[in-house]
Amino acid sequence: MQHLDIILAMNHISKSFPGVKALDDVSFHVRRGTVHALMGENGAGKSTLMKCLFGIYSLDEGEILFDGKPVHFHNPEDALKAGISMIHQELQPIPYRDINENLWVGRYPTKKILGLFSIIDHKTMTKRSEELLKRVSLNLDPSTLLKELSVSQIQSIEIAKAISYEAKIIIMDEPTSSLTQAEVSHLFEIIHALKNLGVSIIYISHKMEEILKISDEVTIMRDGKYIGTWLSRELTMEKIIRNMVGRELVNLYPPKNNVPSTVSFEVKDLTSTNPKSFKNVSFSVRKGEILGIGGLVGAQRTELVEGIFGLRSVAHGEILLHGKKISIHQPRDAVKHGIALVTEDRRGNGIFGVLSVRDNVAVASLDDFVEFHLILNNKKLNQLAEANIKKLSIKTPSTKTKIQSLSGGNQQKVIISRWLAVDPDIFILDEPTRGIDVGAKYEIYSIMLDLAKQGKTIIMISSEMSELLGVSDRIIVMCEGRLSGILDRGDADQEKIMALATAYM
Ligand SMILES: Nc1ncnc2c1ncn2[C@@H]1O[C@H](COP(=O)(O)OP(=O)(O)OP(=O)(O)O)[C@@H](O)[C@H]1O
Ligand SMILES: [Mg+2]
Repeated sequence: MQHLDIILAMNHISKSFPGVKALDDVSFHVRRGTVHALMGENGAGKSTLMKCLFGIYSLDEGEILFDGKPVHFHNPEDALKAGISMIHQELQPIPYRDINENLWVGRYPTKKILGLFSIIDHKTMTKRSEELLKRVSLNLDPSTLLKELSVSQIQSIEIAKAISYEAKIIIMDEPTSSLTQAEVSHLFEIIHALKNLGVSIIYISHKMEEILKISDEVTIMRDGKYIGTWLSRELTMEKIIRNMVGRELVNLYPPKNNVPSTVSFEVKDLTSTNPKSFKNVSFSVRKGEILGIGGLVGAQRTELVEGIFGLRSVAHGEILLHGKKISIHQPRDAVKHGIALVTEDRRGNGIFGVLSVRDNVAVASLDDFVEFHLILNNKKLNQLAEANIKKLSIKTPSTKTKIQSLSGGNQQKVIISRWLAVDPDIFILDEPTRGIDVGAKYEIYSIMLDLAKQGKTIIMISSEMSELLGVSDRIIVMCEGRLSGILDRGDADQEKIMALATAYM
């Protein structure tokens, strides 16, 4: 069974958390110098398996052989030193650190002065940093603060760090979820270069096209169990879905049967106070309509909806609700007018990590939390939470589980269900299915359609072309802060959206 070719063998791994068996007798073998994709629905156990490998969690059962030898990592430092690096699903950079510190913290190059004291050798450190940055094609000064960098650049720095540890395995947990297309290509180039050096990449993603393109092998997990490993070229999307979901999934989108009626929500000439952000944006949406907002990452779509919602300052422009001008200075105003925003950034402003699933379902803001507790008694809260958990098939051991221990996709469903409880008229969803598996996506689209059929208005930002085309009645496209075009469902296709998304570039 042991093969020279195999750099990593995880055998019969089991791991339980209170109320869940996250991993149940999982085996996972990775070959040297290959890209091995790890796939499965939300909550299947992918991140947990990788955290076991990286020394974040201890195993309940099983063994890990790295380069043919049994290893027991007690913490990530052990794993790093042995040659395993992990780029996390949710990057957590320290904003006021510079690139140098980020790369070398805990192992600064030093020099002796007067033959006595050791001090940090800044010159050597900077030189080494520059070499590393070159390896990942980043043209940056190592003294740049992390807060100045884009997600993609921070990720490249994490990869540079992995290279500096001479990593033999680099784990990438959903590395492309917030990258532009150009950044994804950049990442893929780096991955190819690493492969040629004999490094193995474990690649977790829900994007099937990407997986089929970049990976050599694919392992699929379901409900904490190992399902199988295939060569990528033997796989098709249908086959992947069938193995992930455990049944045939005929349609990726529910049938469109909503009928838009009268205009409910309008934005006129909305312009940010920030000259680099959105400007002169005008559009209207109807009751019962799903309006998609397309564009590339960085087109200022999130900024626009945050401007609408009172999270960002607006220089001029109008917002009309059912034909009447309304003023929104803070999110509370928006909520009062029946407008909901499901944010893209789950960790930043989406979830209250330490609260339970139940309370997260019930609150739309911390203020409401108090009010909700006054209005709804515990029994009602529990009923509400349980109904939503069932409706959205949220995978959680109980309603009392803290939301931060749920898998990424399940956290997203909790946030959506929270707004369902508030019952707004205008739903603004920012990348609602980011990091969500195919089955759960279908459920979220169905919810959106149901809401539209009830006469609600839905505005959905999405960077996935197929999703925009699959669920929207109309699509507005933004480029560099401006609205570059509006397409009707019937006329829209990928080429047209792409052309508009790059119209002013
Ligand atoms: N620290 C934890 N405490 C309790 N339960 C946890 C913890 N981490 C994960 N779980 C549970 O273990 C299961 C597997 O979660 P995991 O995060 O590994 O899923 P995943 O496959 O990475 O999903 P996703 O695609 O959504 O990221 C889930 O049921 C999750 O709720
Ligand atoms: Mg995960």
